[in-house]
Amino acid sequence: MKKIILLVALTTFFCNANAQDRQIQIETQSTALILKAGKNGLLYQSYLGTKLNGNSGYILLSKESTKSFVVNDGNPLVNLRHQAYPTFGTDNLFESAIRMTHNDGNPSLELVYVSHRTAKIDGNTTETIIQLQDLAYPVEVTLHYKAYFNENVIEQWTEIKHHEKKPVMLYNYASSMLHFDADHYWLTQFHGDWAKEVRMQESKLTSGTKVIDSKLGVRNNMYQTPVFFLALNSKADENSGELVAGTIAWSGNFKLSFELDHKNALRVTSGINPFASEYSLQPEKTFITPSFIYIFSNKGKGQASRNLHAWARKYGIKDGEKPRLTLLNNWETTFFNFDEKKLSDMFVDSKTLGVDMFLLDDGWFGNKYPRSGDKSGLGDWQATKTKLPNGLGFLMKEAEKTGVKFGIWIEPEMVNPKSELYEKHPDWILKLPNRPENYYRTQLVLDLCNPKVQDFVFKTVDDIMQTNSGVAFFKWDCNRMMTNAYSTYLKNQQSHLFIEYTNGLYKVLERIKTKYPNLPMMLCSGGGGRTDYAFLKYFTEFWASDNTDPFNRVFIQWGYSQFFPAFSICNHVTSWGNQSIKFKTDVAMMGKLGFDINVRELKEKELVYAKEAVVNYKRLSPVIWYGNLYRLISPYDESRAVLMYVNEAKSKAVLFSYTLHPLYDPQYNSVRFQGLDPNKTYKVEEINVMPDGKKYLEESGESFTGDFLMNVGLSVSSSKVESSVVLEITEI
Ligand code: DGJ
Repeated sequence: MKKIILLVALTTFFCNANAQDRQIQIETQSTALILKAGKNGLLYQSYLGTKLNGNSGYILLSKESTKSFVVNDGNPLVNLRHQAYPTFGTDNLFESAIRMTHNDGNPSLELVYVSHRTAKIDGNTTETIIQLQDLAYPVEVTLHYKAYFNENVIEQWTEIKHHEKKPVMLYNYASSMLHFDADHYWLTQFHGDWAKEVRMQESKLTSGTKVIDSKLGVRNNMYQTPVFFLALNSKADENSGELVAGTIAWSGNFKLSFELDHKNALRVTSGINPFASEYSLQPEKTFITPSFIYIFSNKGKGQASRNLHAWARKYGIKDGEKPRLTLLNNWETTFFNFDEKKLSDMFVDSKTLGVDMFLLDDGWFGNKYPRSGDKSGLGDWQATKTKLPNGLGFLMKEAEKTGVKFGIWIEPEMVNPKSELYEKHPDWILKLPNRPENYYRTQLVLDLCNPKVQDFVFKTVDDIMQTNSGVAFFKWDCNRMMTNAYSTYLKNQQSHLFIEYTNGLYKVLERIKTKYPNLPMMLCSGGGGRTDYAFLKYFTEFWASDNTDPFNRVFIQWGYSQFFPAFSICNHVTSWGNQSIKFKTDVAMMGKLGFDINVRELKEKELVYAKEAVVNYKRLSPVIWYGNLYRLISPYDESRAVLMYVNEAKSKAVLFSYTLHPLYDPQYNSVRFQGLDPNKTYKVEEINVMPDGKKYLEESGESFTGDFLMNVGLSVSSSKVESSVVLEITEI
């Protein structure tokens, strides 16, 4: 009966409604996504691109996009191949956003538009919710679109629910599907491995499907980071070209697919990777997909990055508008070999350097099996008595006495077979029955699907926070991928593992955030294997790579800067590479600065330089963290990299120029600055100069108009291999 009433209501609606009523407009300051319910009741995407003046234009544009298609339902305004959330089983010939099997074995779904509403969330954000329904089966799909006006970001996700008697099996469950009709498509992906994260690679899409995905379970961005640029028609550069910048906010297996069909139309699908993850959805339960976050830019990649950074500061990253802590880490100086004396000395070194915090890394825990290397102790989160007889509380007090904050490393999702945790709770560990355990860094993954394990991981953090005054910071590591994955807890629902693990981890992180809302945490994954905007709701920053050689690091930081703001990208000055302390520090300063060096081994002039650089960084960090980034010269184009940050008021800027490996006597052109006010006058001063060094910039200390700096520019790059120049630009 209910079904018949709905059918009658929908038929009446579609026959009577005029084109205007069936058009759904999702808009930001300069982007529009237009959807439309066709007369056949299905929902279509009719436009995604630059926002037009007035609504009538969208209808004309939609008309244009039908020209190559033969299907016409009497409504020429809608492109009938661009279904907003296409299903499987009826007449779809291409990738579906959703696929399921009903209780009676029917594998098809057909979703018609039921209703939509748009609500203002705050002065900047609106949410549009579109209700879809299958007329033959009681399945509801709800599409959500959040539009962030000023930042030009659209966030999109989907909810799936049914009222059948028994569970339905979901095989596909995309967050979004977007359609494009361009002449050519250029995809920039970000791929890598340990120590070579986020290499940017641009290629032209050809007919067929290109997939960027992860099947690693945890540490899931190790090979592919879930971000992309899609340039439309022609390649985009920093300041020109039409493109979409997209990222999926999911910390488990993800999938981004780009299907180019025989008519040169492109479907971009995002979501959880359905690989080995068919999901049995209980009646009345809602399956919520992660968010796909995207920006359409007609001003190139630079504008897309700046918009994303602005969005991330306000909405995407925990405490995005609060300051970060500079730090001294002990990992590369001591590895596992330290005691109370060595650490206390490093508290003093932190103070000497002028950083805010000392960060104690791996190796402080385990008693029956002390963590003297990476083969034992993981899971036993009590301080090793032989190394630290007075416990963590003592270290916290010592650090406080010295006047520095105290942070600590944990890897709470993992266990070494040589640990008390492994002995006591074998059923808490992901491992296959009847097969040998599969190790990576001699460790296994705990089963975060199990609420008891979630409690254990929460307690690991909570116990440390309850010791004395607690810590000021956590570095949360994850040093392996998931293999041989089997959860004793999930019993006969093993295909839920990848999804439930990730959801279980979010539950723990949510509890930590609720109990300790002001606790900064760094996300680390044996380098930069975990970087996505779902994790970053809980983490204030992430470790970009274990590769801290500044030459390599320039490329890594350049890659991350496309999607993540500077304050979230942790860069440490270490002993990797044999470059000068100046080059290392200048490179680290383009993001969140830290040190992981033996301060006592620095020569006097190096220490003087490093201390001054910390002072400079603290003065300039508001510009670096919250300013607008302009990437001026790419290391992928020349043997140098030049970038600058400019504050909102255009009164202060910082420019970093890194010379990499040029051929003999490179002829570097002057660099034109960007983002300044042409009518203002600025003093340009070279900073971060070694005490016995010479400034590179001959004009250092002189003043120029913004007009001059942006149209003529200055020669900012030294020709010396692996050298750097840092300029402070101040309105006078
Ligand atoms: C991998 C991280 O990337 C390093 O910084 C360090 O914390 C080690 N793990 C510790 O085991």
